Amino acid sequence: RAERIAKVKKHFKTFPDWPKPGIMFRDMFPVFRSPEIVAEITSLFEEIVRETCSKVDVIVGLDARGFLFGPLLAQRLGTSFVPVRKRGKLPGPTIKETYVLEYGEDCFEMQEGSILPGENALIIDDLIATGGTMNAACSLVKKQQGNVVLCLVLIELVDLKGRDKVPAKLLSLVEYE
Ligand code: PRP
Ligand code: HPA
Repeated sequence: RAERIAKVKKHFKTFPDWPKPGIMFRDMFPVFRSPEIVAEITSLFEEIVRETCSKVDVIVGLDARGFLFGPLLAQRLGTSFVPVRKRGKLPGPTIKETYVLEYGEDCFEMQEGSILPGENALIIDDLIATGGTMNAACSLVKKQQGNVVLCLVLIELVDLKGRDKVPAKLLSLVEYE
């Protein structure tokens, strides 16, 4: 599996000093230029989830790049997919959570009733940096009495120690210092 992951890593691109000086931006979008790599990432995610979680009811994808692999993985696992969106994007009553980002602050929302009490949720995003985003998503699931069984990301920026902020099991495919 290490070889397959190393091949995936070659498809990310690094932009130094973007969007601000001092930030090494890891861009995952180039993977979508290769349908084979997209399928490989989805397969790796699927294998990891099947090994780690006994039951997943719903995949929760985080705005915006959690919407890319979230539905692909939900399709493979036969689960539903639910979005967490930035403030003001979801209609109807929502549950809200404010969080601090590596470069700013934002508010996340989920539609009320999108997770039922006792449901097992897997949260997916492209990347974990400081962990504020993933932590806020965990809070939203808990506010609906759901269980976060796994947080799954493509990229982990390990030096930022984001995983320490996440109150659930977190697995990443690729690590950067
Ligand atoms: C990025 C990334 C994660 C989050 C990680 O999204 O896609 O969701 O930051 O940062 P954290 O671990 O420090 O909280 P961003 O908020 O830039 O939004 P976008 O997906 O709309 O570009
Ligand atoms: N890449 C993509 N999204 C991010 C990053 C990054 O390096 N840091 C915080 N959000």
